[in-house]
Amino acid sequence: MKIFNFGSLNYDYVYSVDHILMPGETLASSRMETFCGGKGLNQSVALAKAGAEVWHAGMVGEDGSTLLDMCGKNGVNTSYIRSIPGKSGHTVIQVDKNGQNNILLFGGSNRCFTRDFVDEVFSGFEPGDMMLLQNEVNDIDYIIDTAYQKGMRIAFNPSPFDEAVKKCDLNKVSFLLLNEIEGWQISGAREPEKILKYFAETYPKTAIVLTLGKDGAVYQDGSCRIKHGIYPVKVVDTTAAGDTFTGFFLSAVLQGKTPEEALEIASKASSIAVTRKGAAPSIPTLDEVLHTSFD
Ligand code: RIB
Repeated sequence: MKIFNFGSLNYDYVYSVDHILMPGETLASSRMETFCGGKGLNQSVALAKAGAEVWHAGMVGEDGSTLLDMCGKNGVNTSYIRSIPGKSGHTVIQVDKNGQNNILLFGGSNRCFTRDFVDEVFSGFEPGDMMLLQNEVNDIDYIIDTAYQKGMRIAFNPSPFDEAVKKCDLNKVSFLLLNEIEGWQISGAREPEKILKYFAETYPKTAIVLTLGKDGAVYQDGSCRIKHGIYPVKVVDTTAAGDTFTGFFLSAVLQGKTPEEALEIASKASSIAVTRKGAAPSIPTLDEVLHTSFD
């Protein structure tokens, strides 16, 4: 079974700072580094490193060769990545001394999807294949509707949350992977228990994977609810931790693992990712995850 990921590809300009800038403040950074990232690219790389056969569908600008190379060298199929005139997506990321970040996003080529391009990508896939999507590209409601009509399994990470997510019919989604902030933005509820209740009642056929930071993650579908804790590690940079979790979780699902097993491998992989700098380069291989001791 194939998985293809309609997702962003970004250059991340990462600034090391003492603290995250306050409004009106000017602050010198101690270091600036550039990494390949984008929620889409990170999740494709995580899927591939976790052992899945993954096609990335997306758009880069004239400056996109390093993004294409990053996908290719990590085993992501790039035949549905188009190069178009203009600039690739990029971000400006501040990482503070505790490893926490904030991210300013410029969509660039990620927001130039056309319906012709989307339809062309879908023509290469079959009912039963899985389609993964985040909210860093345009026309996400059309992409979800088309995947559903084709009988595909849809995995959706509604991040970052904005009005575009509200236009999507989440009843069509098989796996919704989100954090508690996105859970609150969609459900209006703050407490995890209430968020989970909202999704169970409103989208009963959609399996939810809710990540809760230091409180771990919860999987919920119509028949079960499973919790998994975190692994204690020294946090260096949290960028792409959620993307690593998503890629490893879905790869495990595609391999027929149980939700318990998928949560465990995803939690271990994202725990390793936060001990390293950058987005895509911080994602571990399956071998590393299996051979790391978390005592
Ligand atoms: O989830 C992390 C990613 O979000 C970064 O790589 C950045 O590009 C933003 O898209």
